[in-house]
Amino acid sequence: MQKVRKAVIPVAGLGTRFLPATKSMPKEMLPVVDRPVVQYAVDEAFEAGIEHIVFVTGRNKAVIEDYFDLHPELIGTLEQTGKKTQLEALESMLPVAGATSFIRQQSPQGLGHAVWCAREVIGDEPFALLLPDMVSFGGRGCLAETMDLYRQTGGNVIAVERCDPSETSKYGIVGRGTEAGSGFEVTAMVEKPAPANAPSNYYINGRYILQPEIFSLLGNQQRGAGNEIQLTDAMVRLSKSQSFYAQPFNGRMFDCGSKEGFIEATIAFALARNDMKGPVLEMLQAFVRSHERQEVAA
Ligand code: UTP
Repeated sequence: MQKVRKAVIPVAGLGTRFLPATKSMPKEMLPVVDRPVVQYAVDEAFEAGIEHIVFVTGRNKAVIEDYFDLHPELIGTLEQTGKKTQLEALESMLPVAGATSFIRQQSPQGLGHAVWCAREVIGDEPFALLLPDMVSFGGRGCLAETMDLYRQTGGNVIAVERCDPSETSKYGIVGRGTEAGSGFEVTAMVEKPAPANAPSNYYINGRYILQPEIFSLLGNQQRGAGNEIQLTDAMVRLSKSQSFYAQPFNGRMFDCGSKEGFIEATIAFALARNDMKGPVLEMLQAFVRSHERQEVAA
């Protein structure tokens, strides 16, 4: 079984659900507490043993590349003002030189097309894919768990979570087959099915390990939903000749590409920090009390 060494993080989407903020700021740079959304995915990937990250970027995304670079003026200022802890924290977040590549998706033609753009840098080996707007919370990190199942089964592995059965039409849903290691075999993959047609309520949560044969399928993939080149469509074709497995995530993924998910993530990460838990909890309780009083008065 070939080791998974590289990860693709696509960041070239337009982020229309977050307009107007995303007119001039990539949604991947929106901060959850004090770190941009994309930093969480990068940490998760390196913690899971990934050695090289390929970012698929586009116009107006240069700020992401700059973010993962040294900032001499800032370092100088922190040194002069004796802010050693902050300096060390900043330096520890920086990927090792040479451990990142940035390639261009000239126009956002869909997630499948973004992944296809990484084909030359990935080459002929299995790779991880992390959608950075999906932020992993709790457990050992979603990609680490997905890699565990890959080491047990090989093939292609998708991380999944359960949604409310009435909400399957919001997600990519997989069918549950027999148990395999810490997960199960995937029997079907359906994009946004109505509850009556959904093969289960396990939804694809934004972490994948894929075999390189996906690239040739993406290269001739017809446009699908939203007139975009859809990754799920190519995965369905790949599943005719290769196995797919699903790893249920033991933590929780927040969809920071949606406003509600982003607010939820901000609260969850703040409450998980010892330095913030107390005041944030107090603030939330005060908000709820005042909201309830207003509702009673209305
Ligand atoms: P999304 O579908 O969540 O991103 O793609 P989006 O299209 O930017 O968002 P909305 O729906 O308009 O608000 C998941 C990830 O894939 C990237 C996005 O940047 C995001 O991180 N992506 C998507 C690309 O890199 N290229 C694409 O063509 C589409």
